[in-house]
Amino acid sequence: MSALFQPFKLKDVSLRNRIAVPPMCQYMAVDGLANDWHLSHYAGMARGGAGLVIVEATAVSPEGRITPGCTGIWKDQQAQAFAPVARAIKAAGAVPGIQIAHAGRKASANRPWEGDDHIPENDPRGWQTIAPSAIAYGKGLPKQPRAMTLDDIARVRQDFVDAAKRAREAGFEWLELHFAHGYLAQTFFSAHSNHRNDIYGGSVQNRGRFLLETLKAVREVWPENLPLTVRFGVIEYDGRDEQTLIESIGLVRDFKAAGMDMINVSIGFTIADVSIPWAPGFLGPIAKRVRQEANSPVSAAWGFGTPDVAEHAIKEEQLDLAMVGKSHLANPHWAYYAAKTLGIEHASWTLPAPYAHWLARY
Ligand SMILES: Cc1cc2nc3c(=O)[nH]c(=O)nc-3n(C[C@H](O)[C@H](O)[C@H](O)COP(=O)(O)O)c2cc1C
Repeated sequence: MSALFQPFKLKDVSLRNRIAVPPMCQYMAVDGLANDWHLSHYAGMARGGAGLVIVEATAVSPEGRITPGCTGIWKDQQAQAFAPVARAIKAAGAVPGIQIAHAGRKASANRPWEGDDHIPENDPRGWQTIAPSAIAYGKGLPKQPRAMTLDDIARVRQDFVDAAKRAREAGFEWLELHFAHGYLAQTFFSAHSNHRNDIYGGSVQNRGRFLLETLKAVREVWPENLPLTVRFGVIEYDGRDEQTLIESIGLVRDFKAAGMDMINVSIGFTIADVSIPWAPGFLGPIAKRVRQEANSPVSAAWGFGTPDVAEHAIKEEQLDLAMVGKSHLANPHWAYYAAKTLGIEHASWTLPAPYAHWLARY
């Protein structure tokens, strides 16, 4: 039997297999509201057989959106708009998850196919960005953010808490905090972007404080029996990777002690000029190290979209869940395709009955 197609249980949530669709921004919302596009897109992802579908980075406040087209969950109307999406994912047999996020200094950008760069300062579509320190990312994102005050920090933490409550009201059963990819939380952790000299900057403990406090505050409102997970960039590929990994794993241990149920091992993306060793499954060994040293269930994306690579990562205990992103855009029935490719007899059982019945003969 394939490792990838073993069921997986975390808290009271059971996944039909080890395949997850990671959050992928659609940039198709107006005023943060999910619409017919999101319903159609996420229902399709879930129908294809994945165990878990995590809805895209959804902003906890208007200023936390990457682009004006990002989804948000800072008001009740937005939670209501997500309810049919969560129901549709569940109806197709997958667990509905959502990632909540604040984009920090990478916010106020154009959609990828419209430039992927900061909206110009004088353009009314854009807004003032915030970050731990007034340091711009650079490259296509040159806008200088405003350094957050202690009040800003408390407010954003509360925005995450309120967003988590609304995510539950919308029907999501799996919550992921976006602490990765050079967005707000990651920039607190990285010494490249955090030059504060108060309790939120300096030592590794101080740089981790915003993340840990936010996680703890969310854990208090997110149901104890449902998974609370964190996506975190544990490595930057900036030449000081061993030190960053040691510091990151220390923080992941603290996350776990504070009630985190799974860590999604990802990349920091805090600085522009790095050379990432892209290759199929290249994060697998790093994920395995985090899994062992932090003693936590682990997931990861980036290059697990080939069935034998995903199967290998689960079998070798690098990952508990394989996140398959772009390959799901190419083929929403990726789970079925993976089962066929791995030579699983009656691969059709990966699909809901109305499809499975007919495809069993093919
Ligand atoms: C269109 C698109 C949007 C994405 N949006 C998000 C996002 O909202 N949150 C996030 O953490 N990662 C995001 N990512 C990264 C994916 O979750 C995933 O890590 C990446 O696609 C690598 O996995 P893959 O090689 O299987 O595609 C996005 C990726 C793509 C292609």
